[in-house]
Amino acid sequence: RVVVLDFGGQYNQLIARRIRDLGVFSELVPHHVSADKLKEMAPTGIVFSGGPASVYGEDSPKCDPAIFDLGIPILGICYGMQLISAHYGAEVERAGKREYGKAEVEFTSDSPLFAGLTRTQSVWMSHSDVVVAPPAGFQVDGKTTSAPVAAMSNPEKKVYAVQFHPEVRHTAEGNGMIRRFLYNVCGCGGNWSMESFIDDTVVELKRSIGDQRVLCALSGGVDSSVVAALIHRAIGDQLTCVFVDHGLLRKGEADSVMRTFSDHFHMNVVKVDAQQRFLSKLKGVIDPEQKRKIIGNEFIRVFEEEAEKLGHHQFLGQGTLYTDIIESGTETAQTIKSHHNVGGLPEDMQMDLVEPVNTLFKDEVRKVGEELGLPQEIVWRQPFPGPGLGIRVIGEVTEEKLAMVRESDAILREEIALAGLDREIWQYFTALPDFKSVGVMGDARTYAYTVGIRAVTSIDGMTADWARIPFDVLEKISNRIINEVDGVNRVVYDITSKPPATIEWE
Ligand code: XMP
Repeated sequence: RVVVLDFGGQYNQLIARRIRDLGVFSELVPHHVSADKLKEMAPTGIVFSGGPASVYGEDSPKCDPAIFDLGIPILGICYGMQLISAHYGAEVERAGKREYGKAEVEFTSDSPLFAGLTRTQSVWMSHSDVVVAPPAGFQVDGKTTSAPVAAMSNPEKKVYAVQFHPEVRHTAEGNGMIRRFLYNVCGCGGNWSMESFIDDTVVELKRSIGDQRVLCALSGGVDSSVVAALIHRAIGDQLTCVFVDHGLLRKGEADSVMRTFSDHFHMNVVKVDAQQRFLSKLKGVIDPEQKRKIIGNEFIRVFEEEAEKLGHHQFLGQGTLYTDIIESGTETAQTIKSHHNVGGLPEDMQMDLVEPVNTLFKDEVRKVGEELGLPQEIVWRQPFPGPGLGIRVIGEVTEEKLAMVRESDAILREEIALAGLDREIWQYFTALPDFKSVGVMGDARTYAYTVGIRAVTSIDGMTADWARIPFDVLEKISNRIINEVDGVNRVVYDITSKPPATIEWE
């Protein structure tokens, strides 16, 4: 593995991604990690990331100086290069202005980092300090017009540094540079893959769980599904999954989850039919926040009751992702776990957490899911909120209204898939506003509900744009909804981005 010391740069996740894509496992660690801890982790290489600070700033992040004596190859990027320079006593100068954007670098040495690459090429710069002369024992490997030392190295100490960012796409052959560092300098094998991840994880799960029992809350989403499948592969029947059907799921969802896990994978899955329980709690409730709270609390209650019935389980399996962890600033795993209690399960459950995908990014989890043989509909499932259709029926939730959302949503999903748009549109669903309007059907007046179609493109759900579904596809969806869903006489299309709207209507 290769560890990336995190000095707070905006591209740090990307460095880890690039390294993983080259078949080498990589993870971010806080910059203040001790040399002893690093030694224990036994990385084949260390990357010092970029960061917004100046090495001469008062609170600028530093690393344990003993790391330089571990004999492990180091690659410093941007701030990382300045740190290396400062450590070895070179001169780092505050430049008058920030150099930001494209620059032309000329490679001037035979550094293995750039061997065989184009000698003059575009790179991405984002820095204000510059190294004016390399430290003693270092050679200059490249320069730009404004940075006399754009790359430098001390091959004897196996320390390499670049002022620019090889991890971003704007650096034309950046990937090649990272590859050379991994393969030629660190001697990495490049055989980390989702397959090897599964093999290693299964061995590790067997070891850490032993003959204890594990409980998993299964939602049918990709994260909890992959976690369940992985743990099941490791310990088989020592795993029990609890699937709560709160009656707010989409059409066919409960059956599909049960079919997959119980029938196909032969897992112990306890399905809890709690539809009536949730509906009665939601009776008369209109406020969206109150609805969310009721659904969340009730979910925990149902889960706890089931856990109690099932007897002692030492471990609780959770689908925490790597992004959940690094978004908390790569602090120690311990504090993060309590922050990211996926599904809001209570902390006082006195169970130890098993989080086998907490080193993976979402798309890697999907690859693991495919590798484990999970069906496409689970691996590629679009995000679905915990409170489910409960927040897509605007206002009071009733069985009648749930049926309208469920049926119209099924039609929408079917038609989007038929049009081949299902991977392109990030999330799409229908919502039912709480009003009726007048229509005319077969010469008769109708007074019925309206269905709203919501479809957005997005990267992470934080911001979103409304999807441009072709008119003929929309027309077909509208016709089918009016004809096939009882109680609906009008269909509207939500053309608001986020912000100012949110993706869900409640
Ligand atoms: P909003 O509506 O806030 O949604 O723009 C952003 C994304 O988050 C999903 N969402 C939720 N997911 N529990 C979840 O697990 C929730 O309570 C919840 N509320 C919204 C939403 O579907 C969208 O993908």
